[in-house]
Amino acid sequence: MSTIALLPGDGIGTEVLDGPVTYLRQLERDGLPVRVTGPFPYGTTGWVQTGSTLPPETMQACREADVVLSGAVGTHPAVSSEDCPNPEAALIALRHEFDLRVSVRTVRVPGDDDVVIVRNITGGAYAGPDQRVESDGTGCAEDRIVLDPAKVQEVLDIAIEQARAKPGRRAISVDKASVYATSRLWRRLSLSTSASTGVRLENLNVDRAAYELVKHHELPGVIVTEGLFGDILSDIVCARAGSPALCGSATINPGRGFGNGITALFEPAHGSSPHRTGSRRSNPTGAWLALADLLAWCPDLSGLGLHAEVRSALDQVITTAPPTYDLAPPGAATIDLDEFNERVFEALGHQPTAVTVPPQQVPPSSQEAR
Ligand code: IPM
Ligand code: MN
Repeated sequence: MSTIALLPGDGIGTEVLDGPVTYLRQLERDGLPVRVTGPFPYGTTGWVQTGSTLPPETMQACREADVVLSGAVGTHPAVSSEDCPNPEAALIALRHEFDLRVSVRTVRVPGDDDVVIVRNITGGAYAGPDQRVESDGTGCAEDRIVLDPAKVQEVLDIAIEQARAKPGRRAISVDKASVYATSRLWRRLSLSTSASTGVRLENLNVDRAAYELVKHHELPGVIVTEGLFGDILSDIVCARAGSPALCGSATINPGRGFGNGITALFEPAHGSSPHRTGSRRSNPTGAWLALADLLAWCPDLSGLGLHAEVRSALDQVITTAPPTYDLAPPGAATIDLDEFNERVFEALGHQPTAVTVPPQQVPPSSQEAR
């Protein structure tokens, strides 16, 4: 049995999860080994409901679950960022609490193959608060970057697996070896991993990598890099794909056995898009990609072929349906979120029985959506 805790979070987080959650509830009804819990308060919405962006009930739900499916964390209409300044800290806290230390992102590039970005998401530039010194504006601020070779190796090993699954595609390892000691360690390990596995990893400095990702027609199949570089480069790849909505994100603990709290968090990689909240126009591709990754990750589900089914239904919609607004040229016909989901269910060969994520309650306020 895989227990999936829902953390819809902020802004469009709830609506983009509608399709995937409806799908999971259907699996539950069909007697598959799935239990869906929540939705639990999280992010700015959690702060409104409970006074905390990551309240104890949500932490407890994560301790009792195997994986999280999340929508978005960020600003929410009706809540000012002075009141709730850093909702993203909830996501960072979850990563640290459950040692979800590797991020594997899949960008669905229309008309091309996927690009997968693998990076460390705790440690390095994403270290916890003990590696930082805040400044009041007069003293120095400090962010210490420390890379543990064993942790880098783990990230590189996952990238090698990904590269093996994409024969013929370029796999690049990105660093700034001309400046950083951590990058020189990264490159040393990248070279030795390439030599020992026979899988070619091309080593690029991050500035060159950014240039090539924008300029070269052909995108690499795999990018492996340090957390902060990967954060930036994954957004560049999304820009190449045409929309931030085309990225599914898995944040995993590669070593963790099931039964000790969440082993992974799956989410679309886009933000909470507060000004579009409730418009039901957003493109839910990232949430469907996250669902597909979740179905491949959970041991009880991975053998059932559901991951491939969802991916192929999604690909069919992306290639045959009119685009959502974010991908449409001016004046072109578009479909909205619900039409998109209907088409995915049609392609899957079954109809959803209900849309099941209740809207998150946020009190009305005069605060302008940003
Ligand atoms: C992302 C986001 C997060 C990150 C933020 C919200 C902490 O930008 O998932 O790419 O930097 O990892
Ligand atoms: Mn980011």
